[in-house]
Amino acid sequence: MTTDIRIDISRAKSTAVGKDHGITPGEFEALEPRVLAAHAILTEERKAQKYGFYDLYKDTASFTSVKAAADKFLQHGYENFVVLGIGGSALGITALQTALNAPYYNLLTKRGRKGHPRLFVMDNIDPITFRAMMRLCPPQKTFYNVISKSGETAETMTQLMIVVEALEKKAGKDAVKNHLAITTSPKGPKAPKSLLHPVAEAYGCTSFEIPLNVGGRFSVFSPVGMFPAAMLGLDLDAMAAGCAAMDAACSKASLHDNPAYLRAAVHHQMDVAKGKNMAVMMPYADGLRDIADWYRQIWAESLGKRYSLEGQEVFTGQTPVKALGATDQHSQVQLYREGPNDKIYTFLEVARFDKSLKIPATLTSIAELDYLRGKSMNKLMAAELRGTLDALKESQRPCIRITLPKLDAFSVAQVLYLLEVETAMAGRLYNVNTFDQPGVEAGKIIARRLMGGAG
Ligand code: PA5
Repeated sequence: MTTDIRIDISRAKSTAVGKDHGITPGEFEALEPRVLAAHAILTEERKAQKYGFYDLYKDTASFTSVKAAADKFLQHGYENFVVLGIGGSALGITALQTALNAPYYNLLTKRGRKGHPRLFVMDNIDPITFRAMMRLCPPQKTFYNVISKSGETAETMTQLMIVVEALEKKAGKDAVKNHLAITTSPKGPKAPKSLLHPVAEAYGCTSFEIPLNVGGRFSVFSPVGMFPAAMLGLDLDAMAAGCAAMDAACSKASLHDNPAYLRAAVHHQMDVAKGKNMAVMMPYADGLRDIADWYRQIWAESLGKRYSLEGQEVFTGQTPVKALGATDQHSQVQLYREGPNDKIYTFLEVARFDKSLKIPATLTSIAELDYLRGKSMNKLMAAELRGTLDALKESQRPCIRITLPKLDAFSVAQVLYLLEVETAMAGRLYNVNTFDQPGVEAGKIIARRLMGGAG
């Protein structure tokens, strides 16, 4: 299958927004050899399996094993499925769930959820929220999946300790394995020690591996995202097909025909040459809102770096901003249109909503509402997007449109895969290590020390 996602960068070109704010033909020409050189390096590194995220969708053994485990656990009829994890361990499944399951999913009956459990993604350590989740999800009726690549993140381990104690108390030590699955790095001489390995052993829990060459924020198509997706009944095969389709497009040695490279090059050039040090992602569909949140992490954590690959201080990175259309038209767009011209915008949209909602021919005494009567909410959403795009163009603000034909597993996987490859290319253009996060690690170490643990 080929990609059916449309990417339109015409509003980020100098012909649309002027040469101070848009990319000129000369700039595209200069970008091409840089992108091709970076492509050659990334291709070699992929072949050498330095980065595993590219090929996760091909790991049929992993996909089969998470599906089999989900089938087994779902037979218990759990009411709740709780993910314990933070950052890359949590944002992927949140994005998939919001995009692919019905709105207000947790409020539906079990029949409405097609027999699948409610989902709670616990990605924080707010005691009020965590206590509330524990109250709403009695351990006997709940399945937990603790996810941590390092297997030592304090927030996640804290959550796990609370859950294990409750499980032992309410279900008994022997039953813990029926309520808890563990996702962490594999065991082995080259692997860092994960504190989740002894937990899996002590309780005999099912474990899933995150390949060592896959970083947290690039792990959505590993068991990190795929086991929870299987527990929610999402279509894993369609997601793998979406990755394959986008992989074919994003493997091309081309600036203009490779959508990930084109977006990466435009973003990089906007930042270093046009003062656009912020990248706004503004979906015009509630289902896409958490993709913007997921993108915020991958863009910030991968590109926000102090040192270049050669060890020089560079302080790179574009600040990712998430917004939502049409909601944020009444919050952010005033700034976007008239504030500093320091942002590049990505509008994510679906060409066709699954359902349509007609605006009824009511309130007929109000003539001012004639223009809405008989139209659809879908049409209004499309008009709001077009209005924002055209207003931004008038103010010379560069915009890119990403259009999904519809909101389904095939399309959503394509978008996530596109953004992963785009981030890898952007990291090369910035000449930084896309795949590490020393800034995050530093904070973790300080917090651990403050809690009386070893630095
Ligand atoms: O992308 C990353 O590597 C991070 O955001 C991690 O996902 C996050 O810090 C959680 O780490 P871990 O999976 O080791 O608990």
